[in-house]
Amino acid sequence: MSEKEPIGVIGVGWVGLVTASCLAELGHEVWARDILADKVESLSRGEVPIHEPGLPELVAKNSARLHFTTDMAPVLEHARLLFVCVDTPPTYSGDADLSRVEAVIAELGDSDEHALVMKSTVPVGTGRSIQRRRDGLGYVSNPEFLQEGSAVPDFMKPDRVVIGADNRSGRFADRMEALYEPLDAPIVRTDVASAEMIKLASNAFLATKISFINEIANVSEELGADVSEVARGMGLDDRIGPRFLRAGVGFGGSCFPKDVQALKQLAGNTGYHFQLLTAVVEVNELQKRRTIGKLQKHLGSLVGKEIALLGVAFKPNTDDIREATSLVLSGRLAGEGANVRVYDPVAATRADEMLAGARISDSALEAVDGADAAVLVTEWPEFADLDWAEVREKMRVPLIVDGRNFLDRQALIEAGFTYEGIGR
Ligand code: UGA
Repeated sequence: MSEKEPIGVIGVGWVGLVTASCLAELGHEVWARDILADKVESLSRGEVPIHEPGLPELVAKNSARLHFTTDMAPVLEHARLLFVCVDTPPTYSGDADLSRVEAVIAELGDSDEHALVMKSTVPVGTGRSIQRRRDGLGYVSNPEFLQEGSAVPDFMKPDRVVIGADNRSGRFADRMEALYEPLDAPIVRTDVASAEMIKLASNAFLATKISFINEIANVSEELGADVSEVARGMGLDDRIGPRFLRAGVGFGGSCFPKDVQALKQLAGNTGYHFQLLTAVVEVNELQKRRTIGKLQKHLGSLVGKEIALLGVAFKPNTDDIREATSLVLSGRLAGEGANVRVYDPVAATRADEMLAGARISDSALEAVDGADAAVLVTEWPEFADLDWAEVREKMRVPLIVDGRNFLDRQALIEAGFTYEGIGR
């Protein structure tokens, strides 16, 4: 047994598994509990059900310290800090669905030795309301800022760690600080509500940055500027920073759309109309559909046209398709009467039912064979390495819409393609 504090992780989805394996890597014994028996069994055999670089290796390396179980009892017996990593999806009203968090709380006794460490993204005020009902339990808000595709390095080298606790749970917050000490990151120690708000405000701000640059891109197309150049020039200003200024076909994923909506809704529930976020969402929805107009500009009616979508995942290095632009595009293209084929190195089969009847191809070359246009939706590195002369030969019409400004525009034009980027 290591001398480090044993940890409980409740909910072994993407956040839970990354958290469990990284804490095991830091030397902690981790008891990770999920209600899905199949998942627990396959994890116990060392099989990692999600695509996250470095994660299978970490799980394998730390298997002796990682204990997966469906049972809460061993978690409560061995660990005092209980990391809650369950889903909080949006409901139809736009509020977060906290039923999974509530189900976890219902299983816990009122032992004052245990503390909930809330990793799940919850509305501001959730911690206070839980503490009011369960004042025996400790409570620490510890929002996560991991990005899919780079979650392991993000965990190990965070920009900051946020620990929100009220006086009553101060001793648990001290133990959380000790836990994160080896990462040598700035620690923001604050109250619970502020910690909850830091999470939502950070995601909403990053989403705003993307919608902002997407609008700059759209105006640049009209005015003859190149958004990549504009972003480069803006990003060198320390106050702005270069990241999250990549114009594209809109943001997706399980976090930005949900968290922007949640913050807007939280504000609305207090009677405050968060106008800026309303615009951020609307700009993103329009951005996801803008590609249709670009295709029509070159092809006219899309009825019967063969359109290849390169990339299905909401971003590269993940098989996550939640709120992915590919889903909106395949649906809209089918609505316009086009025949859609899609290719993604890992995510296409996952999305099969959501792709509005699109044909799933086994390779990018198969997808573009006979196509009237190819749309790059996700910037998977392998698309940059395609043999574009061969692609050109296979396509019926050599039209590329580069939805991420990812490809070498000049090389494609020289290879005989009509190239449409975003904001250039
Ligand atoms: C996001 C945040 O970046 C994490 O800090 C946070 O922990 C996470 O949400 C969460 O709340 O769990 P993630 O959804 O994995 O992480 O993905 P991002 O890399 O942030 O990308 C989100 C979307 O924005 C993608 O569709 C991406 O293509 C798009 N994007 C990103 C742009 O269109 N332009 C950019 O410049 C950056």
